Amino acid sequence: MVDEAHGPHLKFHKDLPVSAVEAGADLCVQSIHKILSGLSQGSVLHFQSDLVDLARVRRVVSFLQTTSPNYLILSSLDLARRQAVMHGESMLSRVIHHAESARKRLNQTKNFSCFGRNEIMARGYDLDVTKLTVNVTRTGFSGHEIEDILAKEYRVQVDASDLFNLIAIMGIGSDKSDVDKLVSSLEDIEKKYHGSAQNWVLQIPTLATEMVMVPRDVFLLYKSKRVPLSKAAGHISAQTLTPYPPGIPVLIPGERITQAIVDYLEDLAEKDIRVVGQEGETLRTIKVVSVR
Ligand SMILES: Cc1ncc(COP(=O)(O)O)c(C=O)c1O
Repeated sequence: MVDEAHGPHLKFHKDLPVSAVEAGADLCVQSIHKILSGLSQGSVLHFQSDLVDLARVRRVVSFLQTTSPNYLILSSLDLARRQAVMHGESMLSRVIHHAESARKRLNQTKNFSCFGRNEIMARGYDLDVTKLTVNVTRTGFSGHEIEDILAKEYRVQVDASDLFNLIAIMGIGSDKSDVDKLVSSLEDIEKKYHGSAQNWVLQIPTLATEMVMVPRDVFLLYKSKRVPLSKAAGHISAQTLTPYPPGIPVLIPGERITQAIVDYLEDLAEKDIRVVGQEGETLRTIKVVSVR
């Protein structure tokens, strides 16, 4: 089963990585609204399996879906499919060309760099070149800070950032002017700012912990309360906390909060890295299991 949310276009161009379905996935979900032209919430579930029972998949999907589908979304999915089949290759050739030229230009700057498909393939992986990961470490700024500057001063919105990188994703609607704007803004930032020499470092510790109770029991049987992050070690979490990126929970309900987890979360808060599940602008408290 593959989450291919960001890969519905892969099948439609020979210079993109093999798609999950071609690679033999039994089930695969794709967000057509992210990269192809479906309306928001337009997603598909592909099925090709001798291992999984299709009737059971239909039953499980029906638990989660309304019986009144939105026909605007359904028809936009059909149009996006048609467009990809008929024009996908030429549209994606254009996007790949723009992405590769942005990569080349950014690799000529002093402080920004982008890895390419060959470097990734040498390590045994593959790269969808329409996703441009820009390393900003040499600027002295964090990826989050550059993302903010791009948005506020240049009106350029990237998809995501972390301490060291930005990710600009391109869809079939991205054109030369979008890419030029991104690259020229970064070139301008390089000239205008001389770096804060912050030398960002993020230690990612081993965050093993024990599961004290199952999330269902935390939700149904127990009350919860908020405690300050600094005093949370030893408590049982009553919430999920997920730094994004990479989008992997550090805590889920029922897990024991260790001092290592508290230290890591405090480090993230100090660096202004958003944690999905935090109560406000900064992570100061955690919801923990209180009494039955
Ligand atoms: C890897 C991944 N899977 C799934 C999703 C959710 O997809 P959707 O918005 O179509 O529900 C996202 C959304 O960003 C994602 O990045």
